[in-house]
Amino acid sequence: MTNNAVTRRTFLASTAAIAAAGKLRPARAIAQTGQRNAPIAISSANGLRTVEKAASLMTDGADTLDAVIAGVNIVEADPSDHSVGLGGLPNEDGIVELDSSVMHGPTHNCGAVAAIRNIVHPSRVAKLVLERTDHAMIVGQGALRFAKAHGFKEQDLLTDDARKIWLRWKESHSDRDDWLPPLEATDDRKQSRAAGAIDFTYGTIHCSALNAAGDLSAVTTTSGLSYKIPGRVGDSPIVGAGMYVDNEVGAAGSTGRGEAVIKNCGAFAVIELMRQGASPAQACMAVIKRIADHTKDPRLLDDQGRPKFDVKMYALAKDGRFAAASIWSNGKLAVSSNGTARLEDAAYLHKRPE
Ligand code: GLY
Repeated sequence: MTNNAVTRRTFLASTAAIAAAGKLRPARAIAQTGQRNAPIAISSANGLRTVEKAASLMTDGADTLDAVIAGVNIVEADPSDHSVGLGGLPNEDGIVELDSSVMHGPTHNCGAVAAIRNIVHPSRVAKLVLERTDHAMIVGQGALRFAKAHGFKEQDLLTDDARKIWLRWKESHSDRDDWLPPLEATDDRKQSRAAGAIDFTYGTIHCSALNAAGDLSAVTTTSGLSYKIPGRVGDSPIVGAGMYVDNEVGAAGSTGRGEAVIKNCGAFAVIELMRQGASPAQACMAVIKRIADHTKDPRLLDDQGRPKFDVKMYALAKDGRFAAASIWSNGKLAVSSNGTARLEDAAYLHKRPE
């Protein structure tokens, strides 16, 4: 399969998505249509409880930033979600390192922390960076010291479950080191090595919200790429990549392979396309297509030239329209609008093989 064939396929898919999403409208027209069904919160699929919480807090009058942070705090504290906060999968040394960024639409202010250890709620620390410093991002040891100065308590974030998953990766990812799985798992190990069955994962939670006054905020929080090189920072804490808000336009965020989102300024690109009149669906799909088109490294492409990884972009417009799009099919987003929370399908560029 040639790159031309891929380009044609991806072009057709994104054209279909744009056609389905309707005609372009100038940003001014979007701003005049009002906030349909607000309060509205959207999130990655692991955020059903998040959007419920955020919408309910906004109904009670909470600020949009407080609402999205309270929403993702539920998942940060949930040890069964291995992509965020407590129970997140660790770096290659077995240490959990978290990334988060927040942005408040009305003030256009932001805060972020990256590679922070031992703090369950990096999103709360990111908000303190916004509120209590003149900085936009604090990382590593400095972020931990900053959090402790504000009274955060340290906690080991590596749950037993996550440690076992990490240990299985460590014992199986290479046949050229001295780490071996238990004898009874020898067949499993051979198969894992042969097929590359133990994959890195990029799970994350993003949440954007809109209140009845038309104000927007967003947060993204994650344990990042599993088994990463210590200190690796993904897209989630990078304002403009993993999350971005323009209170006159909308809010956007991402989950999935952060390196690809960073290289394409994902969330910022979505907002800029919406500013030029694209709908959330059009903007998300255009950025997904751009990410796919910009992926040149054969190591990251399948035999048909399609990215082997996935990325999802999420967008919520000031008028209440929302959407998500991903490289691969079967993606969902969580939504709360009109007082009901549900999962909806994300648009996609490529259908996953059956
Ligand atoms: N999108 C999460 C990460 O790459 O760290």
